Amino acid sequence: MDVIDVIRTKRDGRVLSDEQIRWFIDAYTHDRVAAEQASALLMAIVWRGMEPDELNVWTDAMLSSGERLDLSSVGRPTADKHSTGGVGDKVSLILAPLVAACGVADPMLSGRGLGHTGGTLDKLEAIPGWRAELARDEMLRILREVGCVICAAGGSLAPADKKLYALRDVTGTVESIPLIASSIMSKKIAEGTNALVLDVKVGSGAFLPNPDSARRLAETMVELGSAHGVKTTALLTEMDTPLGRAAGNALEVTESLECLKGGGPADVREVTLALAREMLSLAGVSVDPAAALDDGRALAKYEEMIRAQGGDPAAAMPEASDRRTVPSPETGYLQRLDARSVGIAAWRLGAGRARKEDPVDAAAGVVCLAKPGDEVHEGQPLLELHADEPGRFDRALAALEGAIAIAPEPPAAKPLVIERIAE
Ligand code: URA
Repeated sequence: MDVIDVIRTKRDGRVLSDEQIRWFIDAYTHDRVAAEQASALLMAIVWRGMEPDELNVWTDAMLSSGERLDLSSVGRPTADKHSTGGVGDKVSLILAPLVAACGVADPMLSGRGLGHTGGTLDKLEAIPGWRAELARDEMLRILREVGCVICAAGGSLAPADKKLYALRDVTGTVESIPLIASSIMSKKIAEGTNALVLDVKVGSGAFLPNPDSARRLAETMVELGSAHGVKTTALLTEMDTPLGRAAGNALEVTESLECLKGGGPADVREVTLALAREMLSLAGVSVDPAAALDDGRALAKYEEMIRAQGGDPAAAMPEASDRRTVPSPETGYLQRLDARSVGIAAWRLGAGRARKEDPVDAAAGVVCLAKPGDEVHEGQPLLELHADEPGRFDRALAALEGAIAIAPEPPAAKPLVIERIAE
């Protein structure tokens, strides 16, 4: 096989053969194709796209570059959720124990955050003692015994994606629906779950802000999951404003606990329950998840999961040493509180990382003291910024310029769950 022929095929807008795809993914994963050649092919894919069958083979080749977990020993239906990432999106922390409390095991292999959206592992790592890195046997034991586990994916699942994603990150080739869909789905299918629900965010804080692109990504991922024997559906959900009130690692753990106790912000509860109902329905379990939130069963599962991974669910969460507030510029109704700006502010306060090697500050973040639709008064604090290094406040405040709009009337209500996508 000649790599230059493979590149030319895609450059000229033709469909790659199964043989070309499988050869390329294997050769690049094993360092037999140079990074500049792989970059050229990726850029050609960005421009030319991929046909559905071609993308299916590409995804399958990425999946076959590593192992696919066998969860048959878990002895229960399995279901997982993947979110394309949003500001204040702490749903995973509530959802995994919630569905486990309803009889469906959730093997949630997760990642760390990069950029303005936080990662689930970073959030849980704010809990003293909690471990994200688990050996395969330990992960399976916790899944069997507790019914849910949230841990790092490890290098053995879809290693081709690890190499390709790192290359895409530095060659301007992340923004391609086939490349994003195959990257996400190769990892999720490798997890071995029977069912998968995708939470595809739409709006300013989303990875793909445009609704049409988000819908095409959701449809493509649903097709890939189904073609690989994983029952897959997607919900498009609103991400113009942060989900809940907290954006930042420890702050989000605290808010998740409020939801697990049956309270917490209404939007977090609504999105979590919508995703839980999808997961339970795909797994063939007809149980009302709201009852498990309200009667403490989900909270008990959460505490069991945290303890099984070395954490102390009762430990005090880290708190930032310094705070600033952002006052309302006028009296009226909060019309807009821009998710991306809040995400960038939280990131600049220390909650997120710019490079994957960077540490994160568990205590840093932003608390939204008001949400769109609330009546506010001039001078009333709207946001509370938390940081351990006072030098970080100026850049965080700069990110929030233009993020807030006040008007005499409340904004029109928008649904949180915009659309459901199934095969
Ligand atoms: N997340 C992934 O895992 N892969 C992508 O390509 C984009 C976002």
